[in-house]
Amino acid sequence: MAFISVENLVKDYRINSRKKGLLGAISSFLIRESILKRAVNDISFTIEKGEMVGFIGPNGAGKSTTVKMLTGILVPTSGSISIGGLSPYRDRKKNASRMGVVFGQRTQLWWDLPVSDTFDLLRYIYKVPEKTFKHNMEMFNDMLGIGDFINQATRQLSLGQRMRADIAAALLHDPEIIFFDEPTIGLDVVAKEKIREFIRFINREKGVTMLFTTHDMADIEKTCNRMVIIDNGVIIYDGTTNEIKDRYGRERSLIVDFGENPGDICLEGVTICGEGEKKKKFTFNKSEVQVSSLISRLTQEYSVLDLTIREPEIESIIREIYEGGIDFDKSLSGICQEVVSEQRSLQN
Ligand SMILES: Nc1ncnc2c1ncn2[C@@H]1O[C@H](COP(=O)(O)OP(=O)(O)OP(=O)(O)O)[C@@H](O)[C@H]1O
Ligand SMILES: [Mg+2]
Repeated sequence: MAFISVENLVKDYRINSRKKGLLGAISSFLIRESILKRAVNDISFTIEKGEMVGFIGPNGAGKSTTVKMLTGILVPTSGSISIGGLSPYRDRKKNASRMGVVFGQRTQLWWDLPVSDTFDLLRYIYKVPEKTFKHNMEMFNDMLGIGDFINQATRQLSLGQRMRADIAAALLHDPEIIFFDEPTIGLDVVAKEKIREFIRFINREKGVTMLFTTHDMADIEKTCNRMVIIDNGVIIYDGTTNEIKDRYGRERSLIVDFGENPGDICLEGVTICGEGEKKKKFTFNKSEVQVSSLISRLTQEYSVLDLTIREPEIESIIREIYEGGIDFDKSLSGICQEVVSEQRSLQN
């Protein structure tokens, strides 16, 4: 059986609606009206021990709601979750000792206390043995540089320092699984890279199972082999990060610097646009046009000074998926449409 198993998970939120103005406030007080919002709609997936999975989706897709159910903070409306045979919300205490969680938008550190005091408190709460505590603190210092600000109060830390301290705090008790909900939000490129490097290290060296939500595609590309995409509460993709590039990123561009103006060029299946008199951009579908034959034809017939091939970035593929521009398998897009209409009927 998989380490994490999620089956037909659903979460509905009840949202109280309030009418405008004083009269509206009084009538809302007397007659409570509410609507149901289905944030997670019948999702199923499994994660094996030691896997590192990127969980992505547009704003409001249901990522944080799923993470909150996986960590036992929220109780699902229906469906089941099993983590190593335990239910996160029914066996909350037992689960907490083997689970770590980082919410990038919130901190679990005590706001007014020095960071070192938070670590001492967590050490006490999780009953972390002295040897493990010492070893882990040394590792956090070496890899995350927390020693530089360990005596400062949390409220005095910069965002990057706070995030490093939060990640260290979540890992202090050597959890088997860690949930990251946007751990790189708002960080500069150097700080992001440092955190990604540490996450890779923890997964590789300690075999920690990870679920990682982010809006930064570089986070996923640099850390996770597998990507799960959720949209409108429904999983619309679950596969490898490379596969999504292969399946949906078929457009290639070839930029050519010619020695002289090549004049009009006509090539089947290729769109050509000028980027200057001697510079042209050739755009084509890699499954219809072979790049090697295109290059050999151009170099044989024209004087070519330089060539650059461009693949679509994962960021642009994902953007297209979010915007509904990529033709997913019929079954998947069918599900999406059903969900949208079901949500509308829930809201009406
Ligand atoms: N406590 C709540 N009460 C009511 N509705 C909620 C609550 N929390 C989330 N929602 C709604 O559920 C949906 C999913 O929200 P969720 O926070 O899971 O999205 P997300 O994928 O994490 O988005 P983001 O990328 O913006 O963090 C949204 O439409 C949101 O408005
Ligand atoms: Mg979120």
